[in-house]
Amino acid sequence: MASISSLFTSLSSSFLFLFSFATSQSILLPTDRSNQAQNCPSSSSEPLSYNYPVIGIVTHPGDGASGRLSNATNASYIAASYVKFIEAAGARVVPIVYNEPEEIIAEKLKLVNGVIFTGGSAKTGPYFERIKNVFQIILDRNDEGEHFPLLAICLGFELVTKAVSKDNNILERFSAKNQASILQFVDNAATNISIFQRFSPQLIEKLSTDCLAMQNHIFGISPQRLQTNDALSNFFRILTTTPDKDGKIYVSSVQAYNYPVTALQWHPEKNVFEWGVSAIPHSEDAILVSQAVGNYFISEARKSSTRPSMKKVLDNLIYNYAPRFSGAVGSGFDEVYLFQ
Ligand SMILES: *[C@@H]1O[C@H](CO)[C@@H](O)[C@H](O)[C@H]1NC(C)=O
Ligand SMILES: *[C@@H]1O[C@H](CO)[C@@H](O)[C@H](O)[C@H]1NC(C)=O
Ligand SMILES: *[C@@H]1O[C@H](CO)[C@@H](O)[C@H](O)[C@H]1NC(C)=O
Repeated sequence: MASISSLFTSLSSSFLFLFSFATSQSILLPTDRSNQAQNCPSSSSEPLSYNYPVIGIVTHPGDGASGRLSNATNASYIAASYVKFIEAAGARVVPIVYNEPEEIIAEKLKLVNGVIFTGGSAKTGPYFERIKNVFQIILDRNDEGEHFPLLAICLGFELVTKAVSKDNNILERFSAKNQASILQFVDNAATNISIFQRFSPQLIEKLSTDCLAMQNHIFGISPQRLQTNDALSNFFRILTTTPDKDGKIYVSSVQAYNYPVTALQWHPEKNVFEWGVSAIPHSEDAILVSQAVGNYFISEARKSSTRPSMKKVLDNLIYNYAPRFSGAVGSGFDEVYLFQ
């Protein structure tokens, strides 16, 4: 009975609400709406929040499938998970094909509001040279006053660590292949800056108990080594650390002090978009982690003052390429974009 009477109360209050609404403001039929101005200004009018952000993703050598898709010596790829991760946060992608001529890469970088360095294995050679060169362009643009963010993931973290320290032997070995892990905050303030701003307090708590961060690396850097390297410790603030399979602690997330540069040893894109390895966490919390990182990074890209020609953007978008389904051949990625 109680529930019926409370149902009645709520029905009658909604009826009263409708009634008072109808008397104070006559009900509009769809055809009457035309002279009611829809006052939603175009989202591009806010100068400091550009709502058409485009992200450059640097391709990685190879086909991403150990020769199952292509053996072309100049082939390079982007795992589609990075692309979808960016798209899901409200941005589009321009591939930066690492082995294209420097002038073309410079032109493409003028079309983008932020850059991603992906995971992978190429630690030396032309790829590392290209990453260093693009990293310098990113720093220069920030020094010139543009807010131009970088998200460096896994191998990207390692290469940026090498580039900042100018020490090709700075990395150490860790045992963290295909392992979901926790993230330990080095101090509470770390939750207030960088990607972790977008995490709810509950999710921040869970990061230190639940394995929500996907790791897949055999190199890394310990907090001690980072802190005792002047170049690195002046450049990066350590946000989180993580124990590897042997309990050895490595740095898992860093944020530059003076640049919108975030580097993660872990893979935010995999939780949502990669299914080939059973260790990848896909729980609702794991998905929230991915989305919070994507949303943070694109919020940084919206602050960039680059306003490229839309025609040039369209000509260079990743939509000019079709992803290939590579999950069925067990390549490690579900889909890849190939450039060759
Ligand atoms: C690449 O080379 C390997 C080894 O020779 C071969 O098994 C594979 O089929 C080749 N891949 C393609 C796409 O042709
Ligand atoms: C984080 O920011 C909030 C809101 O600005 C503040 O109340 C809190 O003290 C900060 N926490 C730390 C650890 O700095
Ligand atoms: C790769 O090599 C092929 C054949 O030599 C060439 O047509 C293509 O443009 C090259 N692609 C890249 C990305 O360098």
